[in-house]
Amino acid sequence: MAPPELRYDGQTVVVTGAGGGLGREYALFFGSRGASVVVNDLGVSFKGEGTGSKAADVVVKEIQSAGGKAVANYDSVENGDAIIKTAIDAFGRIDILINNAGILRDISFKNMKQQDWDLIYRVHVYGAYKCARAAWPYFRKQKYGRLISTASAAGLFGSFGQTNYSAAKLALVGFTETLAKEGLKYNILCNVIAPIAASRMTETVMPPDVLENLKPTWVVPLVAVLTHKSSTETGSIYEAGGGHIAKLRWERAKGALLKPDDTLTPGAIIPKWKDVTNYAQGEHPDGPANAMEILEAAGAQPPNQPGEKLDFKDKVVLI
Ligand code: NAI
Repeated sequence: MAPPELRYDGQTVVVTGAGGGLGREYALFFGSRGASVVVNDLGVSFKGEGTGSKAADVVVKEIQSAGGKAVANYDSVENGDAIIKTAIDAFGRIDILINNAGILRDISFKNMKQQDWDLIYRVHVYGAYKCARAAWPYFRKQKYGRLISTASAAGLFGSFGQTNYSAAKLALVGFTETLAKEGLKYNILCNVIAPIAASRMTETVMPPDVLENLKPTWVVPLVAVLTHKSSTETGSIYEAGGGHIAKLRWERAKGALLKPDDTLTPGAIIPKWKDVTNYAQGEHPDGPANAMEILEAAGAQPPNQPGEKLDFKDKVVLI
């Protein structure tokens, strides 16, 4: 039996950067599955130059002529409040936010201008923050929200000529992981995706035969599943592209256990280097290593507070 068609009736979805590329596909999908869609797009070039309303308008028309509900918004994601206000004014609610808008300013680190760094940060990190921040009170109040932010392989693994973009994209992973923790009890689920798809962004760096196998529509189903009311996934990273969909996670090596006293010198680490880097006995953490637990497991007394048990179970704050 075929699985049921996922629907979003009665829900409002905001898709940023929905005038083209991946954002357009998300918007068309949600519009075709019963949701009311805010099609946000500033109408810039892939480097972030110029502005225009046409990109968003065209997608709104496409959704409407297929029988769906959509309105346009032409603000920059840096004005996230105005984008979410469009959703509230037009449809009275916001259920799903897709932080998708993005630009590139690829250049070697040596030649990068301050503006290349600042603009990438403002669109990807500050823009995602502003939109999420404006949606958050509605999500909390209604005890329901779905948030997708868009990272990139460049952020997860590094990519030549993309220090600005990589830094911004990985920032969205940390952003998402923390929001997932804060949102959980309000049924606000937050995930981050690293897509690969043919778009004007990738057509400058990939040949046509490769792009042919990277249709942006093939990223949409993952976003659809993660944002559906039936989903329970939160705080995770996913790759999607060319029909391949996979979850990624952190891995911590077994690690070396050194006495936390004056003997913990560089010279003490070197002989233990194989343990520091030993992934064969690694683990997949969703939080920082609990030093006390590790020491106790190794039969050592926790330092400084002999006999005292510290409960870090619910809240671990790292600096
Ligand atoms: P695209 O260039 O086709 O679409 C991006 C859209 O965002 C454009 O319509 C643009 O006008 C809009 N936009 C840019 N700055 C904006 C701002 N300040 N406010 C509102 N709208 C703005 O790019 P594509 O490929 O669809 O990328 C979508 C997202 O996916 C981006 O965040 C990108 O970094 C990310 N991504 C894409 C990959 C790919 O293979 N296409 C790979 C990894 C990440």
